[in-house]
Amino acid sequence: MITKLQQLEEEAQVELAAAQTEDAIQTVRTKYLGRKGLLTGFLRNIVSVPEEEKPLFGKRCNEAKEKLSAQIDAALARSAGGKKLASLRREAIDVTLPGRGIRAGRLHPVIRIRREICDIFTAFGFSIVEGPEIELDYYNFEALNIPKDHPARDMQDTFYVDENIVLRTHTSPVQVRVMEKIKPPVRILSPGRVYRRDSDVSHTPMFHQIEGLLVDEGVTFGDLKGILTAFLKRVFGEDTTLRFRPSFFPFTEPSAEVDIRCVICAGRGCRVCGQSGWLEILGSGMVDPAVFENVGYDSEKYTGFAFGLGLERIAMLKYGVSDLRLFFENDSRFIRQF
Ligand code: FA5
Ligand code: MG
Repeated sequence: MITKLQQLEEEAQVELAAAQTEDAIQTVRTKYLGRKGLLTGFLRNIVSVPEEEKPLFGKRCNEAKEKLSAQIDAALARSAGGKKLASLRREAIDVTLPGRGIRAGRLHPVIRIRREICDIFTAFGFSIVEGPEIELDYYNFEALNIPKDHPARDMQDTFYVDENIVLRTHTSPVQVRVMEKIKPPVRILSPGRVYRRDSDVSHTPMFHQIEGLLVDEGVTFGDLKGILTAFLKRVFGEDTTLRFRPSFFPFTEPSAEVDIRCVICAGRGCRVCGQSGWLEILGSGMVDPAVFENVGYDSEKYTGFAFGLGLERIAMLKYGVSDLRLFFENDSRFIRQF
């Protein structure tokens, strides 16, 4: 009987060793140690064991059961541990790896400046309006007192779509479109793209302007100067050096252009400012009565001022960029600096 018991034990060992999964191990336990298990039932054989061997047989049976039970428990623990280990390996996170940075988008410097300027003028009570980039010759030129064959057309090299349609060369046509629609008082600001056949360090064929227009009773050149000075000091700082220089536009009289001390060379003269030490950033003036006549405003009653500023020029001066063309080369290393 003892030999039979040993055989049974060996069989159990072999099966347990072969059991790979938790389920298989549990099957071995049921088969040998369950209520009707082979080892559990083996004690019944004690009836056929000689009297003097009975105590030893009983003892061996119990030992065999305990041993197998302990082995099964160990196998289960190993299998559970293995499972845990495998899942830990699978889900391991190497916290020493360098992180993957998230590249955030940035606003283009021109858009930033546009927002900043719009905010300043909105605070002054101006509202923002927009006009078309493909414009009638009438709005771009004629209504602004620049008839066909007028020499002033040479001031701006124009892209013509056909005889009557142009890519607008400035934002000034928006003045006319607004005044055709509303009666004074008018206080508007109009940002947008404009196009000219121009290209060098301070000129690109497409650039941005912001047009401003204020019309009411009793508006003077002093108002123009006051508003533009206050605005430019907000953008460039209180101790900015600027100058109003007499100029000519067919749609304003008198007219002035505003220059800012060149920040690239601090006024000593460089290729950006054409050795002059100054950079022109805007044109302005008192609205010409001829323009008021074209939109049906009473030029005896109303006066007003207008200005048109170059956004890239302002961005260039504010951020110290020495070539205006960089703004449109779309090099992300350039944009990321702002
Ligand atoms: C005008 O375009 C007028 N419409 C401005 C104006 C509006 C005058 C209202 C009076 C009343 P001008 O051509 O000077 O003016 O251009 C205005 C500004 O645009 C310039 O001061 C300059 O800052 C900018 N600018 C002109 N040409 C270019 C260009 N090719 N590239 C980048 N900026 C330019
Ligand atoms: Mg000019």
